[in-house]
Amino acid sequence: MKKNILIIPGDGIGQEVTTWGKKVLQKIGENYGHEFSFDEAIMGHTAIEATGNPLPDETLAKAKASDAILFGAIGHIKYDNDPSAKVRPEQGLLKIRKELGLYANLRPILLFDELLDASSLKPEILQGTDILFFRELTGDVYFGEKNRNEDNTFASDLMNYNRYEVERIARKAFDAARTRSKRLCSVDKANVLETSRLWREVVQEIAKEYPDVETEHMFIDNAAMQLVKNPKKFDVVLTANLFGDILTDEASQIAGSMGMLASASVGDGTGFFEPIHGSAHDIAGQNKANPLASILSAALMLDISFGLQEEAKAVTNAVAETLKAGWRTGDIANSSTETSKILGTQEMGEKVLEFIK
Ligand code: IPM
Ligand code: MG
Repeated sequence: MKKNILIIPGDGIGQEVTTWGKKVLQKIGENYGHEFSFDEAIMGHTAIEATGNPLPDETLAKAKASDAILFGAIGHIKYDNDPSAKVRPEQGLLKIRKELGLYANLRPILLFDELLDASSLKPEILQGTDILFFRELTGDVYFGEKNRNEDNTFASDLMNYNRYEVERIARKAFDAARTRSKRLCSVDKANVLETSRLWREVVQEIAKEYPDVETEHMFIDNAAMQLVKNPKKFDVVLTANLFGDILTDEASQIAGSMGMLASASVGDGTGFFEPIHGSAHDIAGQNKANPLASILSAALMLDISFGLQEEAKAVTNAVAETLKAGWRTGDIANSSTETSKILGTQEMGEKVLEFIK
């Protein structure tokens, strides 16, 4: 198979972790006889520094022309405490999501048994958890009209959804539920928000097309609580952009660390694969970041964009073997981990490569 992959390392630890996602793709290409070619582009703070624009036209053009994109992370501390900055790294990510029509963000909560004790939650609560989030990614309050009055005493962000936006993500989630345990939970705030009432109405309608899937509706506040109380209760979770953003950070603690969660953004065209973690400037450039989320994002690319299930499995198995052998990065180590087993980004990446069949 011939594929042209665009690497966008982005900011902070994005640079380091993406190196390993890419190396894993190269190794898979060699082992399975695929011709993967790579190009690179800038986005986020890195792109602002170089061009003044968080998503330069050249990056967007390369993205549109590629078969799949592996992205690292976005953001810089400089902007976090400067709410007045007009140009911000995150604008690059939001714009590329919109431009590529990436309306469905899949976030699997993949729990490796070896990491049961890396979570702050009790192992018996976690064991057996397997959740697949479908977060809507190009609508909601993220993309609604923003306003601030002249004397800075009022601001607003418009939360809004079109029926078709709910329909298309709902169908994707129901289709996935069919291939899993046939349970779907749609999360909203229909007791308060009009957008959520539309959301629920549409999901109820689509549910009729999937009588074999057991559908449940839950309010976001309750879902946030149930997720830590009894995560096993969830299988496919379907939710809006903002709720999904918050809920999946919470859910990352089930998997032990933000450094473990990969995501796939899909929709109209080229698929976009990225860890759910941020740029973590506090540890950037120190060989401390966990490369596994980027490596698992590469596995999602192989599976979802290229339909290479066996190759994807080879990657997740290699991650599982690495963990089984006791290797850890700092974020997934605990007090009982031997110091000699705690690796840097590079060493962890090399271990995974060794385990790829
Ligand atoms: C995510 C991130 C982004 C989001 C930020 C960086 C804009 O938190 O992908 O979850 O809010 O979508
Ligand atoms: Mg987030």
